[in-house]
Amino acid sequence: MLANNDFQDWMRQRQLRMEAVLEQLLPAPDLAPQRLHQAMRYAVLGGGKRVRPLLAFAAGELSGAPLDRVETVAAAVELIHVYSLVHDDLPCMDNDALRRGKPTCHVEFDEATALLVGDSLQSLAFQLVAERPIAHSAALQLEMIRVLALAAGSRGMAGGQAIDLDSVGKNLSQPELEFMHIHKTGALIRAAVLLGAHCSNNGVEAEQLEAINHYAKCIGLAFQVVDDILDVEASTATLGKTAGKDAENDKPTYVSILGLSAARELADELHQDALSALADYGDRARRLVQLADFIVRRQS
Ligand code: IPE
Ligand code: IPE
Ligand code: MG
Ligand code: MG
Ligand code: MG
Repeated sequence: MLANNDFQDWMRQRQLRMEAVLEQLLPAPDLAPQRLHQAMRYAVLGGGKRVRPLLAFAAGELSGAPLDRVETVAAAVELIHVYSLVHDDLPCMDNDALRRGKPTCHVEFDEATALLVGDSLQSLAFQLVAERPIAHSAALQLEMIRVLALAAGSRGMAGGQAIDLDSVGKNLSQPELEFMHIHKTGALIRAAVLLGAHCSNNGVEAEQLEAINHYAKCIGLAFQVVDDILDVEASTATLGKTAGKDAENDKPTYVSILGLSAARELADELHQDALSALADYGDRARRLVQLADFIVRRQS
């Protein structure tokens, strides 16, 4: 119980810090073009679990990274994540009206603005990692920018989203479904973990990087398996987004393909696999361990 309270405090503190950092770096609402800036702030601020930033912070704690650098990569990954949500909700994609307990960006503003919000958040993310110090060398900083670009693009999140849209009404095999999920959700989660670790002043040794990478891949896939489960099991009120949307949109998911209990078992297996990668790192990995538990057991 004590350990759990300690984790809750850690999480809350970092979520608040992330909110403050994002608040600061987003253009002011009265800066032209006001409507776009207001919509960007509407989409980013005041909601979300901030799981990707938390993963970056936790990985940074394992590698001994300075907090100010981790804050920058955490913010950049969250901006790309929010851009992906704003576009994911558009009528041409999942056509959702509720996100983080509020009307979606295109409902509150309009579709063209939502499109531009996504574009602008992505650019802002890359601006941040280009202009703020995040690594102990310029070469590593460039490599980190490359990692983020790969995770967001057609070989990562955007590619996964393309497969998702192409899969509507289809009966994917489990490997095909895994491929889709690893890309649409796993890639950015993996990037959050790797970038957090790379902020270290001392560099990350190959063995530790391999362990972190394995953890990140497992937990990234587990995250989307749980998202598929919650879409079926949780209520709209708890999720802050419309429940039952996957079935309504005829999307293949882990639940539609394996059934609820096998999907839950798979999430548990991935959870254990993620934890096994951290076994050698003891207390330094405890936030990553706690976050893995949180990701798999969360109710929203
Ligand atoms: C939802 O992500 C979209 C997926 C990639 C599954 P989150 O569940 O992290 O959404 P927020 O950021 O907490 O709103
Ligand atoms: C979204 O997956 C993955 C993204 C890249 C945004 P979903 O479409 O399942 O996400 P939710 O359930 O709408 O949050
Ligand atoms: Mg979607
Ligand atoms: Mg969606
Ligand atoms: Mg979903």
